[in-house]
Amino acid sequence: MKDSIFNNTDLITPAYVYDQDRIIEVLELLVDIKERTGCFPLYSIKSANVSGLLEMIKPYVDGFSCSSLYEVLLAKEILDESQTIHITTPGYREDELDKILELTDYVTLNSYTQANTYSEKVNKVASCGIRINPEISFVKDERYDPCRRYSKLGVSLNDIVNKKIKIDWQFIEGLHLHNNCESVNFDELNQSVKKMMTAISVNDLNLNWINLGGGYLLNDKSELGPLIDIIKWLQDTYAVDVYFEPGKAITGHAGYLIATVIDHFVSDGKQVAVLDTAINHLPEVFEYQYQPRVLDASDKGDYEYRLTGCSCLSGDLFGDYYFDSSLEIGSRIVFENVGAYMQVKANMFNGINLPATYLLEKNKKFTLLKQYDYEFFRSRL
Ligand SMILES: Cc1ncc(COP(=O)(O)O)c(C=O)c1O
Repeated sequence: MKDSIFNNTDLITPAYVYDQDRIIEVLELLVDIKERTGCFPLYSIKSANVSGLLEMIKPYVDGFSCSSLYEVLLAKEILDESQTIHITTPGYREDELDKILELTDYVTLNSYTQANTYSEKVNKVASCGIRINPEISFVKDERYDPCRRYSKLGVSLNDIVNKKIKIDWQFIEGLHLHNNCESVNFDELNQSVKKMMTAISVNDLNLNWINLGGGYLLNDKSELGPLIDIIKWLQDTYAVDVYFEPGKAITGHAGYLIATVIDHFVSDGKQVAVLDTAINHLPEVFEYQYQPRVLDASDKGDYEYRLTGCSCLSGDLFGDYYFDSSLEIGSRIVFENVGAYMQVKANMFNGINLPATYLLEKNKKFTLLKQYDYEFFRSRL
C-alpha cells in the first residue's frame, strides 16, 4: 500500500470512505435508464444513510425509498418538494401510521391483513401499493431470500391466484416487487415481473405504478438493455409509472473501510495483526461469515497475517491475508466493497467508537462527512 491515497494522514481511522466518482458512475447509469424510458429511479436509503451521502445522491434520483418512520423523516429533511418519498415495511405500527402518511407519497403495504386494515386510510392521503411475493427464489442463502418458505415479505402470489386470501383491491394503485440480492441477471427480474403480471387481474385495481424494488447491481451501460425492455414493456402494456429503488448498486462497491494496525504479534505460530476497527464496523462479515476483500492482499505472498478487530470477542476477525511486505504498527488496511449495509448496521460494542465517514472527492480530497465522539456514545445509554 506504499503509494495508496488511503495512506493520507488527514484520514482519521477507522473510516468509511465513499468514492464519489464510483457513486456518480452508477448514478449516471440511473439517469441514462430514466432518459431512455421515462421511469423514476429512487435510492433505497437503508443501504447507506450518512446525510452528506444522501445530499450527493439526491440530484440524480426522483426520490428515496424508506423502511421506517425515521428513514421517512430523514428523507423529508433531505429531499426537495418535487421529489417523492416511498415506504415499504412489514413493520407498520398503528401509532406511527398517521405521521408516515403525512410525509410519504407512496405507501406499499406488506400483507393482506395490512391491505385490508389500512388501504382505504392510506389511499386518502398517499398512493397505496401492495408488495407481492412472486415466489420465485434466486438467492441461495435464505437469510437474503425474500421468497424463502414462510416469507414475511409481501403477499403470496400463489395465495392470490388460488383465492386463498381476500384482498380489497379497490384502494390499491401500485404493485411492488423485490425478490433478489446482488443479481446482475435481469432475466430474473423479467421472470418475476411476468409471473406477477400474469397472475394479478389488473382490472380489479386502479393500477398507476409498479415498483421493481432493488436487488440488482448496475455495472455497465451495455448490460442495461434487458432492464430497459422490462420497464418499457410495463409502461406500454399497463400505462403505469415504473419506479425502481437500488441501494447496494449505488453504494456497495464505492465504499471502503480504512483501518490502521495498532499491534502485531505471533500467536500459535501465526502473525496476528490487531486493527483499530472491529468486526462490528463490518457487521455483515460476521453475520454471514465471509472474508472481505482487502486492497493489495492476495492468496499468496511472503507475509501472512490474521487480521483481527480490537474488541474482546475472539471471533472479531476478518480472516487470513497475504501481503508482499510486512505490516507494521501504523500500516493501513483497506477493506473493499463494503459501502452497503455496513455503516447503517455498525454498533459500539466494547465502547469502540464508530468509524468516521469521508467522501473521496473528484480532486482526490477527503471530505469529512461524519465523526462520532464520547458524547454520542453516552447519549445512547
Ligand atoms: C423493499 C426493498 N427495496 C430495495 C432494497 C434495496 O436492495 P439492494 O440494496 O439490494 O439494491 C431492499 C433491500 O433489502 C428492499 O428490501
